[in-house]
Amino acid sequence: KRHLLESADLDRADATMVLDTAAQIDQALAGREVKKLPTLRGRTVVNLFYEDSTRTRISFELAAKRLSADVINFSAKGSSVSKGESLKDTALTLEAMGSDAIVVRHGASGAPHRLAHWVRGSVVNAGDGTHEHPTQALLDAYTIRQRLGRLEGVRVALVGDVLHSRVARSNVWLLRTLGAEVTVVAPPTLLPVGIGSWPVEVSYDLDAVLPKADVVMMLRVQAERMNASYFPSAREYSRRYGLDGRRMAALSDDAIVMHPGPMNRGMEIAAEVADSVRSTIVEQVGNGVSVRMAVLYLLLGGNEPA
Ligand code: CP
Repeated sequence: KRHLLESADLDRADATMVLDTAAQIDQALAGREVKKLPTLRGRTVVNLFYEDSTRTRISFELAAKRLSADVINFSAKGSSVSKGESLKDTALTLEAMGSDAIVVRHGASGAPHRLAHWVRGSVVNAGDGTHEHPTQALLDAYTIRQRLGRLEGVRVALVGDVLHSRVARSNVWLLRTLGAEVTVVAPPTLLPVGIGSWPVEVSYDLDAVLPKADVVMMLRVQAERMNASYFPSAREYSRRYGLDGRRMAALSDDAIVMHPGPMNRGMEIAAEVADSVRSTIVEQVGNGVSVRMAVLYLLLGGNEPA
């Protein structure tokens, strides 16, 4: 494959190859003082970000640097996008300067697919509108496998603002491909119209789902994409769908709590849960670098073994 545009494109063999490659990279780097491999020396990766990011942009930058690629960070703010330059012209300009891969985050669903038609190099979707965020789902799957030792048959509760969540969409497709069972828990106003065609169970009752879950994946309430009619009040949301210490006590002994970040502490997740031993939130961020190294390595065809 040349691009990574959506989790829905990955079959079980593709996804497993990414997770296994990330594990090999982790092993190769473990205990090394200089955490760097020479595999993408001479290649150039551009981070093309039209929306803000902390985790994804920095971890793609670290991933490319740890593979010895040159990295350019492009933020739409402060660029000629403000003069009206289109996504296509921006991408062609970057490619003319020698980029081999473009990692793109964009507010419009489908923007990475358009980009893939215009450029010769690889395109990696780093989050497009409410559509997909495939590397987030891959790092989440990697984290589940690392903590629980398996993905097949794992029961995942995906909780919260599913309507606006590209993380939810990518996780549903990838987790199902890898054999996990997914239950989506949300108020009806925060579920997409087409939820009936997703390969998931749907529940409106978080307290009923928690005791049966191996993984509870909390989603950020995306106020910036929200219309007031979707969302009664933060207090009411938190009372019905927030994960606090009392609710966490209903989980089985080995269950883990995940969140892709950034978190609204005190709304969808209480601080005592986010900072608890069940939480994998910090591990997810660390695993993001290894998984993104694996994605860049596999797409760009490293010239040295990892
Ligand atoms: N999880 C995630 O995509 O975070 P950022 O928006 O900070 O990249």
